[in-house]
Amino acid sequence: EPLVISDKNQMRKWSRRMRSQGKTIGLVPTMGYLHEGHISLIRQAHNLADVIAVSIYVNPGQFSPTEDLSTYPSDFDGDIRKLMAVSGGVDVVFHPHNLYDYGSNTKKTKSGSDNDGVVLSCIEEKGMGHETWVRVENLEKGLCGKSRPIFFRGVATIVTKLFNIVEPDVAVFGKKDYQQWRIIQRMVRDLDFSVEVIGSEITRESDGLAMSSRNVHLLPEERKKALSISKSLLGAKSAAENGQVNCEKLRNLVIQAVSEAGGRIDYAEIVDQESLETVESIKSPAVFCVAAWFGKVRLIDNMEINL
Ligand code: PAJ
Repeated sequence: EPLVISDKNQMRKWSRRMRSQGKTIGLVPTMGYLHEGHISLIRQAHNLADVIAVSIYVNPGQFSPTEDLSTYPSDFDGDIRKLMAVSGGVDVVFHPHNLYDYGSNTKKTKSGSDNDGVVLSCIEEKGMGHETWVRVENLEKGLCGKSRPIFFRGVATIVTKLFNIVEPDVAVFGKKDYQQWRIIQRMVRDLDFSVEVIGSEITRESDGLAMSSRNVHLLPEERKKALSISKSLLGAKSAAENGQVNCEKLRNLVIQAVSEAGGRIDYAEIVDQESLETVESIKSPAVFCVAAWFGKVRLIDNMEINL
């Protein structure tokens, strides 16, 4: 069994001990309910570092009060079993109870008139006494940032905290959450974090659906319909490879297919791989990003298009 640490000071101590033994540390941050996508990141981390830390923490700072924090799936014992089965294993699991609990000295600011008109995260709603946020101002605006305005500052902030606690040499993120990966990369560059950020390919079910912890909430019918996302993305990608570089036309392929399957499109955008700015015609490396609702489940997926 991997060592499980829940205390952040213990975690940092463990990392410093490893470092003093000359070992490099790889970190794979997760919110648990692990699947093969997460495991692929761990395998990738094994190629890049001597010892591997996996964090399992459902971060309230990246959920708004109307989102699915309370129903986010979890199965810690199952996660540990899956981690034990990974070849090469995992050296430590960082499983904090609450990374925003700074003890009784912290002044709690209850959400109230001060916050009127401001979108809150769950930790502000609960008045948890945290007020410092990392924002990657432009990259966080588009795509998922439009419908989830506090999501990426929550992600960037918790990843900063994890980097400061675990002090990894390398951290591996999935391209499944493409915007998240680019934001973390940019944050590390802009703020001179001493960690290398690696993006790892999307793991899919055998029929093409991108793996996600949220897929368990799909009803069997919705699960079938949700396939329209990966299928139409693949269709658009091959259309682009066959010369259709007009993004309007490519976007319509996906919007139509997903809508006809009964999905509600949040966005379907073709953007530059680095700046994430919308492109009208594919001339340089682009990525086609989609978010859509099937029932109560919001799914995201994307495909890189390198012509
Ligand atoms: P979570 O959704 O648990 O994902 C953890 C990591 O696994 C992320 O880097 C994500 O991109 C990657 N991942 C998820 N599904 C994947 C798939 N099908 N293929 C490849 N990689 C996949 O993303 C988060 O948690 C959180 O926002 C976090 C970064 C932990 C901050 O709280």
